[in-house]
Amino acid sequence: MKFDSISILNRRRFLQGAASLAGGAVLATSSSTLTALTAFAQDPPSGCPAPPTGGTHFVPGSDTRPIVLRKSISALSAAELTKLQSAYAALRALPASDKRTWVLQADMHALFCDSCNNLNTDIHGSWSFFPWHRGYLYYYERILGKLVGDMDHFRLPYWDWENIRTLPTPYRSPGSSGNSLWDNKRRPGLAGGGNLPVADGTTARITTLYGLTDFDSFGGDASGGGAVEANPHGTIHVDVGQAANPFEDMGNLGYAARDPLFFAHHGNIDKLWSGWNDLASGAGTSYKNPTSSTFLNLRWSFYDENQNVVSISAADVLDHKDNLRYIYKSPRFVIPPLWLILQCELICCLPDPDPGPWLRVTEQVRETVIQTARASSPVVLVLRGVTLPSGISGNFDVFATRGERRILVGSIGVIAHGDRKEQHAHKPVTLVLDITEAAPDLFLKDKPATLHAYRRIEDQKPGITAKAQKLEEVFQLKAERAEIRVAKR
Ligand code: C2O
Repeated sequence: MKFDSISILNRRRFLQGAASLAGGAVLATSSSTLTALTAFAQDPPSGCPAPPTGGTHFVPGSDTRPIVLRKSISALSAAELTKLQSAYAALRALPASDKRTWVLQADMHALFCDSCNNLNTDIHGSWSFFPWHRGYLYYYERILGKLVGDMDHFRLPYWDWENIRTLPTPYRSPGSSGNSLWDNKRRPGLAGGGNLPVADGTTARITTLYGLTDFDSFGGDASGGGAVEANPHGTIHVDVGQAANPFEDMGNLGYAARDPLFFAHHGNIDKLWSGWNDLASGAGTSYKNPTSSTFLNLRWSFYDENQNVVSISAADVLDHKDNLRYIYKSPRFVIPPLWLILQCELICCLPDPDPGPWLRVTEQVRETVIQTARASSPVVLVLRGVTLPSGISGNFDVFATRGERRILVGSIGVIAHGDRKEQHAHKPVTLVLDITEAAPDLFLKDKPATLHAYRRIEDQKPGITAKAQKLEEVFQLKAERAEIRVAKR
């Protein structure tokens, strides 16, 4: 392990601590300063270990364990739940010298997410997102399995938020460190048994996402993130945590994997990808993974259950059943089989009083869209290459606004990366918005509705609101490319 990266990180944190002392002006006894310093002392600056590199290549077919179902947390038997709890307890109890510790494993994620160093290794915001997390969960699952002496049958459970709208009970209750699945850095609402915001991680959202037939829009490409990453992946991260102290775990990629819930959340994200692939049939590229060698040869190193460095490629993880020895029960979603892609442009901006990006389409496209929406058949807007201002994080809701009328069309979850708030630039994201309901407003010839992203106010009820509330608009939506997809009937 190299220590230079650790000292860089610690120094940065130290400087921040010092800055907050100086800038907080004042008395070292001021209680907010004390809180901040105490938190620094207790919490992560264990830093970022150097990433493992190299290692034995994974060989497809070498894992010959039984193929076992990964289950919803709610479907675990009492014995399975006990095993899960014991596995995390054992992980947390490993000596610091071990390569599998809870902290070191969490820091693996921080490292690959660009929170630690200036390494250009961020596996978020690109097509690495799905395969990297699959590989990470695979080795994490093997480690936990080994710790409870059951590598053959232990599999990570997932949090199917589309069905379980609260933080799963075993992960929050009892809410104390005696519970190995508990984490003390979650927002109090969900941590206390509250519900997810109504629009996040719903079956409707999954159905909208499954309307995307190409991997680029769904899972990202070499330089930008796919639609799943921002929502529901990002929105749910931010629902559970925030960018900074005191609830930073799930809300900050630098700490997120310290929360056992991370692995349950990513189990469901992995299942979402798996279910999308299940929709593929026959020739053609619909619902299929990229085939370029640049993608297939992406390779990352991890520690395995024996503390050895191993590496696995994107190609190796695509077949999780045969290669990684787990499956999911595929849910049945009703997906329109064929989608028509219509061109449009996101144009900025109308003159006052409602400046804002609006959608420009041809007369023919307008007709098709309006007819589709009238038939209550889905109309989906795909915005590719959406740029977000550096340093922002949080959940943002996108509304189609016309006069007093505002319709929620989708959300974006932007997770903080470590502590470098100001500097952190975001890679372009893909937004997929359900504009079925807003279509008549968005495609009016005269003064059409405009699209705005607002920082989400925590208690705000999403949905149609008659009155414009005072919302903070933090950035203007801009996209490299816009297209409309309607279900072909
Ligand atoms: Cu690597 Cu959910 O983030």
